[in-house]
Amino acid sequence: MSQPRVFVCTGTACASLDAEAVKTRFEQASGKQVEVRGSCCLGLCAQGPLVRVEMADESEAIYEHVTADLAADIGKALVGGTRPSAPQLDLESAFFTRQVRIVTANAGRIVPSSR
Ligand code: FES
Repeated sequence: MSQPRVFVCTGTACASLDAEAVKTRFEQASGKQVEVRGSCCLGLCAQGPLVRVEMADESEAIYEHVTADLAADIGKALVGGTRPSAPQLDLESAFFTRQVRIVTANAGRIVPSSR
């Protein structure tokens, strides 16, 4: 098992919905027990702010319409080792399975400012 990782979309649409406050609440709620990073667009802006989570068991989920309060709840669940119960996107939906992401293939997996 590894440390949970959280990627908060800070793309334009999510930024306009206060994604920075969401990212800050994740950092406050989970301390250093969860790695929190920003991310470029995760692909379904209308459902933002989106947050991609890599669980300790290496499964993943993308949470939708994440507010600062919901970020605190998700962060606490991750610290407690449980799977957060919050609205998620269906990653097997046609919207995602029919996409071939090229430029953004690693969105939510790498830190844009890293080398
Ligand atoms: S800007 Fe966040 S999903 Fe597109």
